[in-house]
This record gives sequence, structure tokens and C-alpha cells, in this order.
Amino acid sequence: RILIIDFGSQVTQLIARRVRESGVYCEIVPFNRTEGLLDTFKPKGIILSGSPASTTGIGSPRADDWVFTCGLPVLGICYGEQTMCAQLGGKVESSEEREFGRAVITVTEDCKLFEGLFTVDEQEPVWMSHGDRVVAIPEGFKVVAVSRNAPFAAIADETRNFYGIQFHAEVAHTPRGRDMLRNFTHVICGCKGDWTMAAFRENEIAKVREQVGSGKVICGLSGGVDSSVVAVLLHEAIGDQLQCVFVDTGLLRAGEAEQVVNLFRHHYNIPLVHVDAGELFLGKLDGISDPEQKRKIIGATFIDVFEAEAKKIGGAGFLAQGTLYPDVIESVSFTGGPSVTIKSHHNVGGLPERMNMKLVEPLRELFKDEVRVLGKELGLPEEFVSRHPFPGPGLAIRVPGEITREKLELLRKADTIYLEEIRHAGLYHDIWQAFAVLLPVRTVGVMGDERTYDYVCALRAVTSTDGMTADYYPFSHDFLSHVSTRIINEVRGINRVVYDVTSKPPGTIEWE
Ligand code: XMP
Repeated sequence: RILIIDFGSQVTQLIARRVRESGVYCEIVPFNRTEGLLDTFKPKGIILSGSPASTTGIGSPRADDWVFTCGLPVLGICYGEQTMCAQLGGKVESSEEREFGRAVITVTEDCKLFEGLFTVDEQEPVWMSHGDRVVAIPEGFKVVAVSRNAPFAAIADETRNFYGIQFHAEVAHTPRGRDMLRNFTHVICGCKGDWTMAAFRENEIAKVREQVGSGKVICGLSGGVDSSVVAVLLHEAIGDQLQCVFVDTGLLRAGEAEQVVNLFRHHYNIPLVHVDAGELFLGKLDGISDPEQKRKIIGATFIDVFEAEAKKIGGAGFLAQGTLYPDVIESVSFTGGPSVTIKSHHNVGGLPERMNMKLVEPLRELFKDEVRVLGKELGLPEEFVSRHPFPGPGLAIRVPGEITREKLELLRKADTIYLEEIRHAGLYHDIWQAFAVLLPVRTVGVMGDERTYDYVCALRAVTSTDGMTADYYPFSHDFLSHVSTRIINEVRGINRVVYDVTSKPPGTIEWE
């Protein structure tokens, strides 16, 4: 396993992704929390991340001394290279010539990091993002690659197995970056690369059995990937000690509630309480048009309903949650000085504390795409595992303004046609999220010889890698015309269809 020491770079998580993709388990820890990890975590090698900080700044972050004295291989990336140099007797300066974006390195010497990849004089595109640069390397190091603005683009001390690269090997814009990281973990650190999802599954099942003993676990199902994977994994681990609760808010898409019930109750034989709370939710949302108020009402009502069900079941000491690794990584932030904030998942608010339940979180170590791989490993159907994300407040935030049963029905019909056509055209997996929105606007139309005065439906489809930024999907005009015609012909009550061509930012993915 590999320890990744985080100095606050935006892309530290990508280092972990690349390392895990090569079959090596790794964890990310903030630079000021590494004490004792040599013994408790027992890494085979250490990677130092980039950082928005400058090594030349007063009080800038440093790696603990043990990192360089324990005898393990170390790879410093960007700031990681700079702090390694600064800490081992080299020199770093702020440079006039900053390098951002694409750059080309030229290999000047062979080293294990480049083994089987490049030879001397070969040129290779990489992605840079730095203001400071190394101007003198510590004793024992040699330069193994240069770029136009970074004379020490890559350095190595092959006796101590210390390597530094100024470029970001972890990003997709460094095409052979993944291979260089693999050389570090496999060739230099000697990792075997045998961390697989099958092994994770076995291991996690054993851990859950040990944690839970003969106790009872309640798991909230939403129909989404994370909670589904948790439920199936727990069922495999503890069988009928698991009880699932599916709170049906009445705000799901067409057919979704039936799918969840069928899959879990009938296909997997997992004990499932289906709480049909649609009336309750719609009643509480009656007359509400403010998006944040909608979210608050839905969140609070969800907790009330879930708590009541959990009490009815009784005797459960554990609550299962689909918390993922990005939710638990302690992020290093340099806004207003180094500080550590912990993001946490609040699927069911303060419920575990309120009910005195312990949390079972078997996905805590996984990234979203790893959860999908685990889902497939557990035999969940492909269409379930590779679903687009769906927001907790459901269709409530896709009906801007007041929500009525009639509007929800129109939206469900339009949304079903839209997604049917997207799947039919083979585009579903090229898109991060696609959905229809029912606008609170009526416009005039003419159908046959009749005047219509009906709702407008907006279609949204975006590409994204994490939902933080997004681009609208460039459908062909033929595709859009076809979907528009189908919706207007088949959904009585909608007479106009528009396509949203806003990216995020400045827009958001959802309309509310
Ligand atoms: P936005 O609209 O903020 O959406 O660009 C980014 C991602 O988050 C989802 N989303 C939510 N998910 N509760 C959720 O569980 C919410 O209140 C919520 N609002 C937005 C959205 O679908 C997209 O995937």
C-alpha cells in the first residue's frame, strides 16, 4: 500500500485514483497528520502531492522528517518535488516564467520511473501547473528530464529511491503519467498490484461481520447506486440481520419505486419495508415554490418517516450508509491559512445520534467509479450500476415553482420519452446526467386546427466528470426534433420543448 501525503492540491484525489487503478491500495492523509503512520499504515512507498502553497512562503507546509529517513521510496509531484528539494538541501525560487497547461519534457537520463516508457532524448507531453521552480537539487540527485521552463522537470536519487517530478503525472493531460506512477508503485516500491474489487468484497464482508456480530442493521434504500451496493453487500455479509427501508417520496421518476421493490424484495430476497409516503411529502410541499425550502421540507420529512419506521422495526443497533471516500477525506485548505475541514455525508441527518445507532459504512474507502465496479462484482444489473445521478429531493427540484400532482405526471411522461430516446440512440453512457424539467409557464400553440395553451418542457443533458463543472451535451438537431415531436404528440399538456445550452458554471446542472 501507498501513502499519499496531501499538501492541498486540487488533484490529489486523482493520484489515489491512478494508484488504485493499477491494483495498489492507497490512502490520502493531510501533511500534518502523518505521525505514526509508518507503523500503523505500513506503506511501501510515499507520494507527496502538489499544493497551492509556495515552499518559499513563511510557514509553508512540510513533510514530516520521518518521510525522508525511514528508507522508503518517495515520489514528489510538483510542490511535492519542491518541498523534497527544500527539505533535503536543494533550492526553490519563485519564477517569473510560470508554466501552466501543456508542456513538453525531454528525457536526459534513464531512471526507473521511465523504465520501459522513454529513453534518453525522447520528448513527451506533460501537464504543468507551477509558479515556483527548483533551481538547485540536493546532493545525490540527478536531472532525468527537462522542460523549457523547468530545468529540473524530473529528478532522481536512485540510491535512496527519491524521485521528483515538476509535472502532474496524475492528470489525463499527461498521457503516460499513469505508467510513470505505475513504475513508481510496482518497479520502485515493489507493490504487487493485487488489490482487486473481489478482494475488497471479501475483506469488507469479514469486517462487517466482525463489527455487527449478531446485531440488527437498518439500511435506507434510495434506488441510487451507493445505497443499493451497500444493501447487497450487507445482505451477503449478515443475511436477514439486515432490514432495508425504502422511503418512497412520491417524487421519483416513472416506474422507479416498482424497480427498487422488485430488485431487492423479489430478486435478492432482502427484507424491505416500502413506505409509500407520497401523500405526506406532497402535502407538506403544497404551495411551496422556493427551492431551498423544498429541500429543507423534504430532508426533514424524510428523517421523520425514516425514524418512525426504524422504531417500528425496533432493536436495530446499526445504521448502514453509503458514505464514499471523497466524503471522508480530510481536505487540506489554504484559504486563511492551513486548516483541516472534514466533509461528511448527511444522508439521514442526525438520525444515528438521535436513535443511538452505530454507523456501518462499507464504502468509506471507495471512489464512485469503484462503487460501480463493486456493484457489478456483486451482480447488480448493469443498468442499475451505471445509472445517471439523481438528486435526493427528486422531481421536486425539476418542477420549478409550486408542485402539483398533475405537473409531476406530465414531467414523468416527458422524462421517460427523453431517456428512452437517449438510450435508443446509444448516448446514455456518453452523458453524465439527462432529464426533463417542467417549466411553470404556459405558452400558446396550435395543434390540428385548435389553439393550445400548455406547459413548456425543458430538456437538459450534460457531460461532466464530477458534477462540479459541466458542459451541455451537443445533440444533433435531428435528435432534438425527434424527441420534441414525440413529447408534444404523446404528452397532452405540453406544447413546447426547449433545449438548455448552459454550461456549469455559470448555470448549475439542476434548474433549482
Ligand atoms: P447542481 O445542480 O448543483 O448539481 O449543478 C450537481 C449534482 O448534484 C445533484 N444535486 C443534488 N443531489 N440533493 C442531492 O442529493 C440535492 O439537493 C441536489 N441538488 C443537486 C445534481 O443532480 C447533480 O448531479
